[in-house]
Amino acid sequence: MNVTIIGAGNMGRGIGTRAVAGGHSVTFVDANPEVAEKTAADVKAAAKNGAKVSTASLGDAVLGDVVVMAVWYGTNIEIAKQLGTKLAGKVVVDIANPLNSTYDGLATAPDSSSAEDLAKAIANGAKVVKAFNTTYAGTLLAGEVAGQKLDVFIAGDDADAKAKVTQIVTDGGMRAVDAGPLSRARQIEAMQLLHIVTQGTLGTNWGSAIKIIS
Ligand SMILES: NC(=O)c1ccc[n+]([C@@H]2O[C@H](COP(=O)([O-])OP(=O)(O)OC[C@H]3O[C@@H](n4cnc5c(N)ncnc54)[C@H](OP(=O)(O)O)[C@@H]3O)[C@@H](O)[C@H]2O)c1
Repeated sequence: MNVTIIGAGNMGRGIGTRAVAGGHSVTFVDANPEVAEKTAADVKAAAKNGAKVSTASLGDAVLGDVVVMAVWYGTNIEIAKQLGTKLAGKVVVDIANPLNSTYDGLATAPDSSSAEDLAKAIANGAKVVKAFNTTYAGTLLAGEVAGQKLDVFIAGDDADAKAKVTQIVTDGGMRAVDAGPLSRARQIEAMQLLHIVTQGTLGTNWGSAIKIIS
């Protein structure tokens, strides 16, 4: 698959690393072209099975089948509005944790989530999928925590779109956990708020993962 990652910061780098390790080609887009170039150069080292790594500007980018919004809540919505109909038919992955200004609660309405707010803002025909918001950037580079595969919780209303994201997750050596419809993003985002506020208590320094074990 061709994956466009908008935002070549910590999470763009982490998701890009897992995607190319699974043989999927990645194009990085960033507000700062030098950041996109640097991330692309670093991520290339992880590429397998002919996966290609490139960069583009937002205006010129030929979007891949899957577009990952690796930016903050609010910016994801601005970019979706900017891209408009270019997103039609695409799978758009929302990874944001919509924290409030004091980082101790969510900025979204109780009956919504970042993913649902994005879906409302997006061009008709795009399929929004929630994923990767519980996997810290550093753990994505490694692809595991304590020798265990990362769980990636996936929510969305379109089965084909979820299957595409599941494929990227699985090929990248992680476990996809289907959490249900897009509205389930409310619980996934709240679950990650708990994971964020307990970093200090646990002293895990953003190196932990949420995993369901059995
Ligand atoms: N960090 C984590 O471990 C983690 C884990 C799970 C989920 N998340 C979520 O992932 C998202 C990204 O987090 P991050 O840590 O990767 O942030 P980050 O390191 O700041 O990366 C975001 C990148 O997007 C760029 N950007 C900003 N506006 C843009 C635009 N309009 N077009 C293109 N690029 C733009 C930023 O450039 P500038 O720096 O120049 O603004 C920056 O390079 C957030 O929603 C966060 O909640 C993060």
